[in-house]
Amino acid sequence: MAGRVQGKKVFVTGGAQGLGAAMARALAAEGAKVALADINLPGAENIARELNDKHGAGTASAYALDVTNEQQWVAALEAADAAMQGISGLINNAGISAREGGVEELSLETFRRVMSVNVDSVFLGAKHAIKYLAKNQPGSIVNISSIAGLIANHTSPAYNASKAAVWLLSKNIGLYCAKKQLNIRSNSVHPTFIDTPILDPLRGMFGKAEAEAKLGRQVPMGRIGKPEEIGATAVFLISDESSFITGAEIKVDGGISAM
Ligand SMILES: NC(=O)c1ccc[n+]([C@@H]2O[C@H](COP(=O)([O-])OP(=O)(O)OC[C@H]3O[C@@H](n4cnc5c(N)ncnc54)[C@H](O)[C@@H]3O)[C@@H](O)[C@H]2O)c1
Repeated sequence: MAGRVQGKKVFVTGGAQGLGAAMARALAAEGAKVALADINLPGAENIARELNDKHGAGTASAYALDVTNEQQWVAALEAADAAMQGISGLINNAGISAREGGVEELSLETFRRVMSVNVDSVFLGAKHAIKYLAKNQPGSIVNISSIAGLIANHTSPAYNASKAAVWLLSKNIGLYCAKKQLNIRSNSVHPTFIDTPILDPLRGMFGKAEAEAKLGRQVPMGRIGKPEEIGATAVFLISDESSFITGAEIKVDGGISAM
């Protein structure tokens, strides 16, 4: 039986671990080819090896990419296009959070670094990938924002600002493609706390069980999310099941934003 994303060729940033790896696993399991791009090349290669062992040679490939570097974007996309014989999906997932503190404590350097990794990445990815997606329509761009891009707190000014920027940039890209009559959709995904290494600093402070319980208590559904739950969202948005959805924000947050 054909998978839900059979024939799709998806470029995933931050694919070495966490949500990027989870989305790549979910997409490969449903028939897609995936290109894993990360600043951590050995990590991306490990995931690619795992997927090729499981789903057959040629399923996955890995690329060195710092998502803030335009030349590296151009080179990685070109290499992935050659390896997969096309690119029809882009998942802008690579992102960082930093120990920020309040707006008065945060250094300009850290603010700029978070903005650059989280926002320049989405801009550069779309800027340089659209020409490939245009040759492989229907195309889909999935931008991983955060619930922190919709709801602010008092301790993460850069993360809040960067993820809010991803939210509207994602809509801008969707409208741009629609205006150009390209069948390329662009949507943002807004997870709440998901069980990935990004939560390790908090686990370090409170211990794993207490940290996860603390976070879970903030979620109406009473728990943090699983990486596979973001994987399932990515499969839906990359697949043609979401063919009329563009410029939308998909919250995967156990109900937090409904409060
Ligand atoms: N896990 C969560 O709770 C959560 C919640 C909301 C949003 N998010 C977002 O989801 C995305 C993935 O998060 P995660 O939890 O998997 O984090 P993670 O830290 O586990 O993984 C991030 C990946 O991005 C890569 N990366 C970092 N900087 C990079 C750069 N400059 N260029 C290329 N790759 C780079 C890392 O090497 C790593 O493989 C991020 O954008 C994050 O903000 C995560």
